[in-house]
Amino acid sequence: MALKITVIGTGYLGATHAAAMAELGFEVMGLDIDPAKIEMLERGETPMFEPGLEQLLRAHVAGIEGASGRLRFTTSWEELADFGDVHFLCVNTPQKHGEYACDMSYVESAVESLAPLLRRPALVVGKSTVPVGSAARLARRVAELAPAGEDVELAWNPEFLREGFAVQDTLHPDRIVIGVDGGRAEEVLREVYARPVAEGSPFVVADFPTAELVKTSANSFLATKISFINAMAEVCEAAGGDVVKLAEAIGHDERIGKKFLRAGIGFGGGCLPKDIRAFMARAGELGADQALTFLREVDSINMRRRGHMVELTREAVGGSFLGTRVAVLGATFKPDSDDVRDSPALNVAGQIHLQGAQVTVYDPKGMANAARVFPTLGYADTALEAVRGADVVLHLTEWREFRELDPAALAEVVSTPRILDGRNALDPDVWRKAGWTYRALGRPQA
Ligand code: UGA
Repeated sequence: MALKITVIGTGYLGATHAAAMAELGFEVMGLDIDPAKIEMLERGETPMFEPGLEQLLRAHVAGIEGASGRLRFTTSWEELADFGDVHFLCVNTPQKHGEYACDMSYVESAVESLAPLLRRPALVVGKSTVPVGSAARLARRVAELAPAGEDVELAWNPEFLREGFAVQDTLHPDRIVIGVDGGRAEEVLREVYARPVAEGSPFVVADFPTAELVKTSANSFLATKISFINAMAEVCEAAGGDVVKLAEAIGHDERIGKKFLRAGIGFGGGCLPKDIRAFMARAGELGADQALTFLREVDSINMRRRGHMVELTREAVGGSFLGTRVAVLGATFKPDSDDVRDSPALNVAGQIHLQGAQVTVYDPKGMANAARVFPTLGYADTALEAVRGADVVLHLTEWREFRELDPAALAEVVSTPRILDGRNALDPDVWRKAGWTYRALGRPQA
């Protein structure tokens, strides 16, 4: 009999995982404690913008015409526990308020709700990003609570998907990592992931702590790479060098690689910033804090970028923001997402606004979320409207739409054709030819 799969938590990780499991041919049931989210998903709508996800849902959600019907949603733990052979935990683990550590309350409450209802053999698989040591502790808790006793096992299977590419990354992962502690867990997960493995995804089997650490160390490495190139941008600015050229040149060395070397206003989002902080906090608890002190520097280089962007903008408008108009292109933490969690773009826009400028923001998908976080900023419906009358334009999220803007048309409506590229993603020649003063982080001024 084919395995029946459940997915607990339907944020971008869970919603994508549930749809992808249905696409792989499994019967799937998704649960969320938020009934509004469940109602949306049952209509085949996603609570967030993620390219291709709505299409995938509509292909599988039961009740939608023409769908496979393999994907259902519920808010009932009883129904979920009766249904599933494999239960994926996909709830979020945000940063604790006022602390670096990770807030495990959603993971814990999911386990406390599910485990006492597990009356038949089942595998609970954690996908959330958790501090090392959590899987072993949760395995003991599941064993204590589950009526089926030893027939219920736990595994950890970290997720590496990127927002904006979530569907692709879930269906065709560049690796599958599982942490197991004996039993049938490996066999069951090999069955779940048979198709991607047959298509070539490497399948790495590890113990619990290693699997947990793979996730946090991967995100720490990525954050370090970005802060490394941003540190080089600072040096380039001091020395008159060009960080874009530098990144291109060092990237030719295959050991370094070209990816994740784009200097700019730094990393944000719901993962990298909180993951490196939670990692430092956990290392401290383990007595290994010295090993990760470099991450403090990675974090502070990153946060400095936002302040630096504010200063460059202040300089561009003549030393004071009072009475100036600043246009901001981009609000999300990265393109092809509507996520504004810890968004560098919105942080810069907010700081400038709080210092007295009139700030108008435009983003292709992030407007509603941005307005919720920063209701006092101005918002425009198009890039052209956002820049109307602006003394300076800031390019802060590298949407394709912004690369395709016509600088000549924008130049006609701004007060001063001056642009600061916080993402090093626009073509300086094109903008300069259209009469703009173009400046970017880590590059010489023309
Ligand atoms: C990140 C990881 O890339 C995923 O592998 C991981 O699964 C995910 O976190 C997670 O833990 O769930 P994501 O948060 O979607 O994915 O975003 P990234 O693509 O990593 O970008 C993060 C930030 O770094 C963005 O703000 C982006 O603009 C910035 N960035 C990225 C740079 O400033 N420069 C670069 O060269 C690359």
